[in-house]
Amino acid sequence: MHQEIDNMLYQVRHLEQQAPMLAFTDAEVFDAVRLNLYRLASKGLSGFDSPAAHASLPEAAATLESTTQVLSLFNVPPALRAQLARCRAAVAAPGQDFDRFDRARFFVRCFNPALAGLQQAQQQLKIPYVPARRAIRAQAVSYFAANAFEPAYFAPTDAAAPTPAVLALGEALFREPLLSGRAGRSCASCHVPDRAYTDGLRVNLSLQAGAELPRNTPTLLNAGLQTEQFADGRVHFLEDQVHAVVSNKAEMGGKLSEAPVLLRKKATYQKLFAQAFASEAQPISEPNIRRAVAAYVRSLVRLNSRFDQYMRGDTAVLSSQEVLGFNLFMGKAQCGTCHYMPLFNGTVPPLYDKTESEVLGVPGNDLQKLALDADQGKFLLYGIAHQRNAFKTPTVRNVALTAPYMHNGAYQTLEQVLDFYNRGGGQGLGLDVPTQTLAADQLHLNEAEQQAVIAFLKSLNDASASAY
Ligand code: HEC
Ligand code: HEC
Repeated sequence: MHQEIDNMLYQVRHLEQQAPMLAFTDAEVFDAVRLNLYRLASKGLSGFDSPAAHASLPEAAATLESTTQVLSLFNVPPALRAQLARCRAAVAAPGQDFDRFDRARFFVRCFNPALAGLQQAQQQLKIPYVPARRAIRAQAVSYFAANAFEPAYFAPTDAAAPTPAVLALGEALFREPLLSGRAGRSCASCHVPDRAYTDGLRVNLSLQAGAELPRNTPTLLNAGLQTEQFADGRVHFLEDQVHAVVSNKAEMGGKLSEAPVLLRKKATYQKLFAQAFASEAQPISEPNIRRAVAAYVRSLVRLNSRFDQYMRGDTAVLSSQEVLGFNLFMGKAQCGTCHYMPLFNGTVPPLYDKTESEVLGVPGNDLQKLALDADQGKFLLYGIAHQRNAFKTPTVRNVALTAPYMHNGAYQTLEQVLDFYNRGGGQGLGLDVPTQTLAADQLHLNEAEQQAVIAFLKSLNDASASAY
């Protein structure tokens, strides 16, 4: 505690000293205000910023107060000030408490209108947007809006632009067994498009005779919207992931360096590559295979579930049970402190510059002999003690379509997953999980509340074929 206070005092003194030298542009101030509102919604109101203390609502009131003060330096329309005041009144209402706060109503009635007002004010005052790259497009009225997220933000600088020709090639390669040499496997063998890009299996079979893959096949829907790939986050870019899986002896057993020779023999690929990479003399190359497949996977953004429609104002699309489930997810059940709204994965808002991993204490798949799963997760990468058994927080979008669950597919149903969390994860089950980061306390969700959370999870389905 003393260390933390010392650190804070240091930061405050440092800021005080620096203050005279710091100059902010109006664009930066508006950017900061917007980022702060996203942070308030995703990390403040979920309880992330105030674990255990549950001071989220008073802290939100303070955030909104300071936002109003900063904006008072500008000649913003009175409507915006009124909207912020309404938000503040909602979180500061007497008798309001963390568990019962109706977040769904707050986001639709206060938060979204305030963000819309902020955008209008910025346009009226002719304040430009910061040129810095952001995961949330500056033009998006809020991060719930259609097309708010910019997949290119998560791409490496040499990524192929997602033109229709590149995506058509990427999709063909995704379904192409030639990438695995003679093994007869394509990406789509395990990431089956009609199954939300999963395979429905606990784990798929290894190419090594009689063996299984160590991990469950995750969905690829929205996989581009994270800074780490795989359950242990061992790869940062989808482009590198393609190489990792093709050359993996258990998964595809191919050689990416040999793929161009095989593909050049096929007239369809001559044509598809020439169209996708028109300016290149020899477009069928190893880097272009990776770039096309990665562009295709990155295009699998699906953020038009009923939940999204609700947040855009169509409040008839969710039942009262689903709304209750959302409020529990974001409050009492603490799910939103790791699965951050609105992507509901571990990529941290509002900057989306890192994807987090956590230790839940997931048991091995033989639930009759309850024991911590043997997979050490992120620890296998660098041997860092606190990363033992840590796994990336995956998205829960489309989770109703992607059973079984967890890195090892140990749980068949969402009921089992809810029961696991309700008991406090591995430690709550009585397992020895020294590094567990999930609070080991019971959540005290009754049966109806658990069902409500599951109903909400089902409202996150959007496996439509429609392009983003
Ligand atoms: C044999 C089955 C199999 C094949 C074939 C396969 N995958 Fe996977 N994929 C998996 C498994 C299992 C994981 C999880 C591995 C892990 O986390 O360590 C995974 C993980 C991924 C991820 C990471 C997703 C995330 O959210 O972390 C991406 C992206 C991906 N695969 C894309 C592809 C592409 C592209 C291809 C074809 C080039 C492909 N996969 C081929 C089984 C497969
Ligand atoms: C401490 C952070 C944390 C909290 C709190 C948390 N989760 Fe998770 N969640 C994770 C991580 C990490 C995983 C991946 C674990 C693994 O692969 O072993 C995960 C996995 C899941 C999965 C399985 C996804 C899949 O595709 O396999 C579901 C469903 C899920 N969580 C739902 C919830 C719900 C509902 C809550 C609230 C009751 C919740 N989570 C709370 C971090 C968290």
